[in-house]
Amino acid sequence: MSLLLSIGGWDIDAWDRRFKSFAPGIRIQHAGASDLDLSAVDYGVAWQSEPGLFARCPNLKAVFSLGAGVDHLMRDPDLPDVPVLRIVDPNLTMRMTEWVTLQVLLHHRQQSLLDQAQRAADWRDLPQWSADEVRVGILGLGNLGRDSADVLARLGFQVAGWSRSKKQIPGLDSFAGADELDAFLARTDILVCLLPLTPETVGILNYDLFSKLARTGPLGAPVIINAGRGGQQVEADILRALDDGTLHAASLDVFNQEPLASDSPFWAHPKVYLTPHLAAESHPDHMCRNILDQIAAYERGEPFKNRVDMTTGY
Ligand SMILES: NC(=O)c1ccc[n+]([C@@H]2O[C@H](COP(=O)([O-])OP(=O)(O)OC[C@H]3O[C@@H](n4cnc5c(N)ncnc54)[C@H](OP(=O)(O)O)[C@@H]3O)[C@@H](O)[C@H]2O)c1
Repeated sequence: MSLLLSIGGWDIDAWDRRFKSFAPGIRIQHAGASDLDLSAVDYGVAWQSEPGLFARCPNLKAVFSLGAGVDHLMRDPDLPDVPVLRIVDPNLTMRMTEWVTLQVLLHHRQQSLLDQAQRAADWRDLPQWSADEVRVGILGLGNLGRDSADVLARLGFQVAGWSRSKKQIPGLDSFAGADELDAFLARTDILVCLLPLTPETVGILNYDLFSKLARTGPLGAPVIINAGRGGQQVEADILRALDDGTLHAASLDVFNQEPLASDSPFWAHPKVYLTPHLAAESHPDHMCRNILDQIAAYERGEPFKNRVDMTTGY
């Protein structure tokens, strides 16, 4: 059996060593190697992979994304008609929930004002409201959105979610589809985006959407938190909305261009918390085992798990 690693932006040799140590009997090939034997490839493992490469593997059975998102694969116009699988890993989910909860709490507990006060040696007594006075809205109620919603609800926030299909989740108000988006926004003080990047979600975080968020919460204006993908945000609109008060603040983990340019206004913006696309890194060992377990199960005749729906793109 042979695996083809097509990994851009990360250290491919480290992945090679990891797969070889977990599965010494499997032949591991690298995209870019001079002696590639594409006809031997059974499975592809991809992150920011070379477009068209998998189309040249005549015996390919499936392609695994090295991450929860598959937008990097969907950009390949020649992606062959084989199952595309994505990572669903409790370790990754918990890391995302940590990041989302941290960001919600930073805004809720007015941490940037407290940081300023500390630097000025100012013993400032800020008024603080309770979590149950704050309405959090989560765009995307998949593996990641549901877990963040659960933890935030347990902290006392009023939590609602928006997804393509209606959900029955105790303690959570579910809104679904384009028809219910405005009602969801109108009850949201802190908006969290955990959507996949698809043609339908490109640019969804724009000025028009920001202006539909609630303005009656304790922060005085809404906050956005994006850990989905940079392509979902119109960055000029975020800056405009922060500067004219349509938005109170933003937490951004993802950007249109990554790494973010050193002259981006986001770096120093006083209303922005910025992290360099690390909200939920997947543990390499977990991903490696996850993929090898899936391959072993499939070879035993079991169906793949976490298969991407190629019509919706996630
Ligand atoms: N920043 C990071 O470090 C990081 C790490 C991991 C993942 N991510 C991002 O997080 C995304 C979400 O991951 P996940 O595992 O939670 O995905 P998922 O399980 O596939 O869930 C996606 C959710 O989005 C909803 N959705 C998709 N398209 C929609 C649309 N057009 N309108 C309304 N709802 C829509 C889905 O609705 P239904 O439930 O009705 O299908 C589902 O609830 C990934 O795609 C990736 O881009 C970021």
